[in-house]
Amino acid sequence: MIVVRGLLKKYVLNASGPNDSNLSELETIAKSDSAAVMMKSCTIKPREGNQEPRYKRLPLGAIQSMGLPNEGYEKYVEYSSILKKYNKPVIASVAGFNADEYVALVKAFQNSDADLVEVNLSCPNIEGKSQVAYDFEQMEKILGRIENLGNKPIGLKLPAYLDLAHHKKAAEIILKHNVSFITCINSIGNTLVIDYEAAGPVIKTNGGLGGLCGDYIKPIALANVRVFYELLQDKIFIFGVGGIKSGTDAYEFLLAGADAVQVATVFEKEGPNCFERINNELNEILKRKNLTIESARGKLKNSKSLLIKQEK
Ligand code: SIN
Repeated sequence: MIVVRGLLKKYVLNASGPNDSNLSELETIAKSDSAAVMMKSCTIKPREGNQEPRYKRLPLGAIQSMGLPNEGYEKYVEYSSILKKYNKPVIASVAGFNADEYVALVKAFQNSDADLVEVNLSCPNIEGKSQVAYDFEQMEKILGRIENLGNKPIGLKLPAYLDLAHHKKAAEIILKHNVSFITCINSIGNTLVIDYEAAGPVIKTNGGLGGLCGDYIKPIALANVRVFYELLQDKIFIFGVGGIKSGTDAYEFLLAGADAVQVATVFEKEGPNCFERINNELNEILKRKNLTIESARGKLKNSKSLLIKQEK
């Protein structure tokens, strides 16, 4: 936790997602005001990803079924060394198709120049593959195998949980293992957007189902950050993700308990200037309220813990 906090000098960075899968895109992020360079979730072998259309902007966000298009982990190991010259943290993100692959991927980045390793347990877009973090037995099994493969902090990219019993179970597992940070939430999987003129879904794969992003999911993301902030008792660094497009959004995530925020949909739409803009807007708010990131974090008013009263 302390290690992760010490690494990040700003509050806003890119999320593993759009425009971070090749070196030129990663260098664009490195040169921007993003607090770190988060790389695309990578797999053992390079992947083309799902059939087009696989990303559709919507009035309040986007739906996507990218299917993990990436150049294969060996390239990102190489990129983590190249990106060092920009003097900001480099975060690897890995997505295995089974426990052995997660082990191989985490090992590779433990022996790389990346500073942190995000383990994506929540990609919703691979046909026939469920999201690991919804299967607590599987999640624990994988964690047991990857938690001590090196000294770099590892973290988990989580899906949205919608039941407090699930947050509690996930938190219990996280606290039992050597996890330094969580990223919550991934896009909300298996949602459907229909183009009524075409009488079909707006994206192609998985019968048109895809991950919902942007404003649509912000209240769910905020709730996940808040609940984990309470359950993890400040022992685990929390990246908030989901619908952050302004300083106001970032401030809301800060109040909920996020240590930093990642942005995807707004980055896809606006480009790399979004990091500086959101950071500046957040700083304006903090200045106006005479607060700092540290003094505001988790300070949601009138929100006595819901969790204490919940049955186990
Ligand atoms: C994708 O490439 O399908 C998105 C990655 C993710 O949602 O984890």
